[in-house]
Amino acid sequence: MIKLTIDGKKVAAEEGGTILDAANQAGIRIPTLCSHESLRPAGACRVCTVEIATNGAKSLTTACDYPVEAGLKVSTTSEKVMEARRLAVELLLAQRPHSSKLQELARKLGVKQPRFVLAEQECILCQLCVRTCQEIVDVEAITFVAQGKDRGVAEPTVVHSLDKCIGCDACAYVCPTESITVTDIGDTRTINTPSGKLEFKLKQCQVCGKYWAPEKQLDYIIEKWHLEPELFATCPDCRD
Ligand code: SF4
Ligand code: FES
Repeated sequence: MIKLTIDGKKVAAEEGGTILDAANQAGIRIPTLCSHESLRPAGACRVCTVEIATNGAKSLTTACDYPVEAGLKVSTTSEKVMEARRLAVELLLAQRPHSSKLQELARKLGVKQPRFVLAEQECILCQLCVRTCQEIVDVEAITFVAQGKDRGVAEPTVVHSLDKCIGCDACAYVCPTESITVTDIGDTRTINTPSGKLEFKLKQCQVCGKYWAPEKQLDYIIEKWHLEPELFATCPDCRD
């Protein structure tokens, strides 16, 4: 175990864990946005900023991807920390002002109105969708690309590959800013993404006639786990 101090409290943390893990174990709450317990950290949003002191030198860092070190002193509530978090949320909110998740974070941190006027963005590049697709769904249908290089401006964005995407909607589920949305109408699932619209044919239940899951997703599951296709002839509600 690694011993460190968080907000003056002595904490024992698992080796290889992060400051965020250690704080959670000690019951100390650090706000997060791009972090998820089932995914590798990305350190993309800076909402989890904390102040650390090593060998007397203080600096700001992100708690979700900073590994615990013996003797580390961490402050989660210093004025510098709160300022850095407010700035991070202000910048995100300026890019995506209608996001209820960002509005809620801003309210909790005391940010009333962003001081910046930025062009509204489809996506805040938190990478939750990219990591979920890679690490949980195991499909890798979403990637980051830099657009506009020919104009000398590289604007990163997330791009869904229609070839690889199975239409499972996990990306929409994790997206904190409603930048990816899914609608099922009739026999078609439509996924609206920052890089465009994808459509998938839905499987019809042989018993009740309901369209219940993308055929491409079911084909993926059948192949991956060597299952019988007949298992998915009916929807979950009509199975014994
Ligand atoms: S689409 Fe959503 S989940 Fe994906 S990077 Fe953008 S904001 Fe994050
Ligand atoms: S939650 Fe740590 S950088 Fe986003």
